[in-house]
Amino acid sequence: MSYLLSSRTQSFLDLEERYGAHNYHPLPVVLEKGEGVFLWDVDGKRYYDFLSGYSAVNQGHCHPKIIAALTEQSTKLTLTSRAFHNNLLGEYEKFITNYFGYDKVLPMNTGVEGGETAIKLARRWAYATKGVAENKAKIVFAEGNFWGRTLAAISASTDPSSYRGFGPYMPGFELVPYNDLVSLEKALRDENVAAFMVEPIQGEAGVVVPDEGYLKGVRDLCTRYNVLFIADEIQTGLARTGKMLACDHENVRPDILILGKALSGGVLPVSAVLADDFIMMTIKPGEHGSTYGGNPLACAVAMAALTVLKEEDMAANAEKMGALLREELTRLQSPHIKLVRGKGLLNAIVIDHENPDAAWDLCINLMQKGILAKPTHGDKIRFAPPLLINEEQVRDCVRVIGEALAELGAAN
Ligand SMILES: Cc1ncc(COP(=O)(O)O)c(C=O)c1O
Repeated sequence: MSYLLSSRTQSFLDLEERYGAHNYHPLPVVLEKGEGVFLWDVDGKRYYDFLSGYSAVNQGHCHPKIIAALTEQSTKLTLTSRAFHNNLLGEYEKFITNYFGYDKVLPMNTGVEGGETAIKLARRWAYATKGVAENKAKIVFAEGNFWGRTLAAISASTDPSSYRGFGPYMPGFELVPYNDLVSLEKALRDENVAAFMVEPIQGEAGVVVPDEGYLKGVRDLCTRYNVLFIADEIQTGLARTGKMLACDHENVRPDILILGKALSGGVLPVSAVLADDFIMMTIKPGEHGSTYGGNPLACAVAMAALTVLKEEDMAANAEKMGALLREELTRLQSPHIKLVRGKGLLNAIVIDHENPDAAWDLCINLMQKGILAKPTHGDKIRFAPPLLINEEQVRDCVRVIGEALAELGAAN
C-alpha cells in the first residue's frame, strides 16, 4: 500500500535506518507526545493507541499520578544499587506482596529478566526441596510462548524468527502444546520437572485464549505432580484482561507470578517476581540480582501505577469496553475478519484476505485514519488500547476500522 510521509517524519526514519540496528519493523510513524488513549506524531497528528506499548501503558500515556510519583522521586533519589538499603524498597515490597497476596517479591527490570528469575527460582527449588539431582531440572513451556529475547527465552521459543541462528540453546527445556492438559500431564509425570511456565493468554502468538478450565487444569496438575506453576502475566496481568490478573478469571493462584510492562504504566522498565517463602527463600544473598532492580524510582512509580489501576477501577472498564469492542467488531460482519478473539482489552482480529500483506496494509490505512495498531505473525492484528478508553471512543474506533476494512476489500 502506498502512502506519503512528511519530510519531517522521513528525516526521523532516515536517522534510525542509518544509525540503529535493523531489528524492528515499525509502522512509519514518529511519535512525540502521549496522553491517555492518544498519541501525537511529530507533525501534530493525533492517533488512538491500539497497542499500548504491548500492554505496558494500561493506565494511559503519561498518567498524571504516575508522572507525579516519577518527578517527585527523581529529585530525591533514583538509584542506590542493592549494596545499600533505600527508604522505598521495603515499603514497595510490603505494598506489592499485600496487593497480590504473596510472601515475598523479587524486583527486576524487564519482563524477560522476570522470566529468567522465575526459572532460576524453580530450578533452585527443585534441587533444594523437590530432590531433583543436580543439573537435571526441567522446565516445561507451551508451544507458541513468548517471554522475551534472551538466550534462555529464545531457547523456549517455537518461533524460528526468534531462535533461528542464535544457537546453541539452553538445555533442560521442554515443550507441550498450549491448551492441552493431556500432553501437559504426560510431561509433568517426569520427576525432574521443576515448573510449567505459561501465559494465561498467549499475547505475542496473537492473543490465543485457551479453553475455559485450562488454567484450573494446569493448577491441579502442577499440584498433583509437585511442579511449580509459573504464570507469565507480563502482558495479561494488571487489569488488561478485565481482572487484575488473567488467572483470576479461573480463581487460580500460581506458585510464581511474573509481572512487568504496566507495573510502571509505561514509564520505566519495572518487573517483579512474586512467590511464597518456600520458593523465594531458596535463593540466598549474592546468588541473584540486578543493579537497577528495586531502585527507589522504580518503587515509587510501581506503587503509583498499581494504585491508579485500583483507584480508577481499570479492570472493570477493560471488561466492559473489551466486550463492547468485540461485539462491535463482530457486528461489522467484514468478510476480511476471520476471527475476533480476546478477553477484556487484550484482543486481536485474524485477517482473511488473499493478499498476504493485507494485515500490514490495513494497519497502514488505520494509521492514516488515526489508529495505531500492529500486525503479529502476518495475519493477526492486536487491538489493545489503554484501559481508560470510553464507550464513545470504542465506537469511534470501530467505525474507522470498518472503513479501513471496506477499503481493503476495494483494493483487492
Ligand atoms: C508474556 C510476555 N512475557 C515476557 C515478555 C518480555 O518482556 P520484556 O520485553 O520487557 O523483556 C513479553 C513481552 O512482550 C511478554 O509479552
